[in-house]
Amino acid sequence: MSSRSHHHDGHTEHSTHEHDEHGHGGHGHGPVTHGAADGAAAAYTAAYEAAVPDPGRSVVEIELEAGEIDWEFTPGRITRAWGFNGRIPGPTLEARVGDVLEVRFLNRLPEPTTIHWHGLQIPPAMDGTDMVQRPIAPGSTFTYRFRLPDAGTFWYHPHSNEVVQLERGLYGAIVVRGPNEPQLDAERVLVLDDVALDRKGQIKPPGWLIEQHDGRQGNTRLVNGRKEPELTIAAGQVERWRIVNAASARYVRLSIGERPFTIIGTDGGLIDAPVTANEVLLTPADRVELAVGPFAEGESLRIETLAYNRMTVARSRREQFATLRVGPAATSRAMIPPTLRHIEPLVTGQATPTREVHLGVKPSLRHGVDFVINKEPHHRDRPVKVGELQVWDVINDTLMDHPFHLHGFFFQVVDVNGEPPAFLSWEDTVNVPPKGRVRIAFLPDDRPGEWMYHCHILEHHASGMMGHFEVVP
Ligand code: C2O
Ligand code: CU
Repeated sequence: MSSRSHHHDGHTEHSTHEHDEHGHGGHGHGPVTHGAADGAAAAYTAAYEAAVPDPGRSVVEIELEAGEIDWEFTPGRITRAWGFNGRIPGPTLEARVGDVLEVRFLNRLPEPTTIHWHGLQIPPAMDGTDMVQRPIAPGSTFTYRFRLPDAGTFWYHPHSNEVVQLERGLYGAIVVRGPNEPQLDAERVLVLDDVALDRKGQIKPPGWLIEQHDGRQGNTRLVNGRKEPELTIAAGQVERWRIVNAASARYVRLSIGERPFTIIGTDGGLIDAPVTANEVLLTPADRVELAVGPFAEGESLRIETLAYNRMTVARSRREQFATLRVGPAATSRAMIPPTLRHIEPLVTGQATPTREVHLGVKPSLRHGVDFVINKEPHHRDRPVKVGELQVWDVINDTLMDHPFHLHGFFFQVVDVNGEPPAFLSWEDTVNVPPKGRVRIAFLPDDRPGEWMYHCHILEHHASGMMGHFEVVP
């Protein structure tokens, strides 16, 4: 948690004047006066005021500042980067279900930005996209305020010029705890990333054709902002690892010394029952929660990605992210219950899809190809109604993988190429294999407004592989 955050009881009263100070009317912005902006301002004020903590819960206040920093991905080597609160990743925001998170954001970047709360099911006005707010100009502030409805591991990142802003280091984890968390011996957050550094150790500017096509896969692999760090775990203990893949395009086929671990959670929190595995795939933006250990003192394990062929021009190899050293033993009290959570399937038996979302490519004079949805970049999709079950077939018409991300609503994977998934879970990002079809289901609850979905390979999103749709009452 940021040292600058603090808790207090009850909810804070804010005058309309303060909304203007911290909200749409920050320095550098004129007052919001007309047209669609009026609606956006009203929706913002309504969402702000509706954000009240549950009884007994509190408002967690965070000051968040994005700016240029000198950062050592490698000890002793300074890279000009961008970070939140002077660091990469930004502070881990920690709270409990039913708390309200109030983030007072200051943009000290040389360009506009917005902050998206990836995976949080919050009102659309707080989602941080350019659909729902004006970009926050350099030197300006904006306050995000929302109630945290779900337990899990989430993350935050800019939703403006992502190819540059995330690559330079603007991202951070969010941990929301629920009332019935499994009790393991320790917990840690690992934010994975890769960055493309030149010979002087500086971040390369966005590249041309191959990078436009594949997405950037950096040459320097990071865990919590450090290149291939060494981690230690006590022998005999079982830890809960909350892992976020913040990379632009890299698929991480995670292995911890090829030893078994237990998957206990994914994007939308705990899964129904623990699953033992030797590896797990994290596409860009994916999260997974693992129970890791126990190991024996003196062991040393490679935390790495196994080779994953996502059918791009550049091939990915097995590469190391970190080393895990096993230190002296400590007693363990870890207990992983056989049932973690009850998840009701949204779809049983045959489901009729309500919509098809085609991920495609289109020749482009500028880029070679543009990445599109249903044949158009930045596709305007049909509205969906609150309370109406959505069953979407996300169809990949291309020859490479795409991680499909839906804003604002958890979905269940019904099947991948007709095969049901290995376990029941809530997701916000799912891999759609080449020429494959993923059927997802979600239930839009009462949060009408503008939402979007997109490929989370940042270059594909930028080129137009995204769609937006309205949730209507
Ligand atoms: Cu993490 Cu619209 O994205
Ligand atoms: Cu893609």
